[in-house]
Amino acid sequence: MNISKKVEQLAPSGIRAFFDLVLGMKDVISLGVGEPDFVTPWHIREKAIYCLEKGYTSYTSNKGMIELRKEIALFLKRRYGLEYDPEEEILITVGVSEGLDLAARAVLDPGDKVLIPQPAYVSYPAVVELAGGKPVLLQTDLANNFKVTPKQISQACTKGTKALLIGYPSNPTGASYRKEELQEIAKVVVKNNLIVISDEVYDELTYDFDHTPIASLKGMKKHVIYLNGFSKTYAMTGFRIGWACGPAPYIAAMTKIHQYTMLCAPIISQLAGVEALKNGFKDVLEMKREYMRRRRFVVERLNEIGLTCHMPEGAFYVFPSIKSTKEKSLDFAQNLLKKKKVALVPGVAFGKASEGYVRISYASSYENLKEALVRIGDYLKG
Ligand SMILES: Cc1ncc(COP(=O)(O)O)c(C=O)c1O
Repeated sequence: MNISKKVEQLAPSGIRAFFDLVLGMKDVISLGVGEPDFVTPWHIREKAIYCLEKGYTSYTSNKGMIELRKEIALFLKRRYGLEYDPEEEILITVGVSEGLDLAARAVLDPGDKVLIPQPAYVSYPAVVELAGGKPVLLQTDLANNFKVTPKQISQACTKGTKALLIGYPSNPTGASYRKEELQEIAKVVVKNNLIVISDEVYDELTYDFDHTPIASLKGMKKHVIYLNGFSKTYAMTGFRIGWACGPAPYIAAMTKIHQYTMLCAPIISQLAGVEALKNGFKDVLEMKREYMRRRRFVVERLNEIGLTCHMPEGAFYVFPSIKSTKEKSLDFAQNLLKKKKVALVPGVAFGKASEGYVRISYASSYENLKEALVRIGDYLKG
């Protein structure tokens, strides 16, 4: 076969590779998936069904329906005081996944360097590489609650460093940043004239303080491509819908790629998105309350059974250390799966430097979590 070298050299997602193992096994409790265990709230599904019945089956404008772009602008203004022009500064994407790809392709020239704090969502280095850029990985660790420091960013900026790609709250660690922390990072961004590609898909799942979009900080809007979506907040992963906001030239460049490669996001999902933003906030709060209950339980139990785990500030993941077991994370995950039928993601799936950790998703029922933690405890006892 004659596959492009760039694609051939791209490592397959470690998460997928591991979960191929899980397929076909019976009675496995899977704490591996990165999606809500809730179904999309009924009024959003009902709206989608109604629109389908009414015959909304066409393309929309490339940028997405103006109703939805206006609704997003209203949401950002009331939630964060963030102002974007729905005509020029907002693009509807096929999930944050497409937003990441478009942002990387719109701003990177071959060889441009992009700083990516690690551990990070598996797509980040991949979209940069596919866009011809060079990921520069900045390692964070437990001592710093898995947060990148302004100093790390500053020291990593060299000739050719064009962007910082950051996601918070983080998949896989759950780490997030307070406003004051972001202000310090923003100073380095401005000083080095970086573009920030900011993935804030878990913004509403921030537990201990208010989420702050980095674009909302003084003087930052012109530096930021802000990505968000419906997948996690409204349990709408299958709708494949998200948005990108930023200075008009960036959005125009992203729209150019989007119009040739995607044309537009699905119309039914866009209409469902309008309903979610208009009437979905109480569902978000209910789901958030349940995630918080699970987070506390999982972190307490993990520490009790001997796996050191910090309290993550957001998302629905915990990232405990398994160093006490002396096992490699892939061995730990495979053995746990074989012996106790619990699936979680080995840290190494998020890069070599995440060895010694595993990712556990608590987007699973309380009962499942309870049983899984008993099984993990039994596994540790040997
Ligand atoms: C950090 C992060 N960004 C983006 C995505 C993908 O989001 P979407 O469903 O909007 O494409 C995920 C999905 O797991 C994620 O964890």
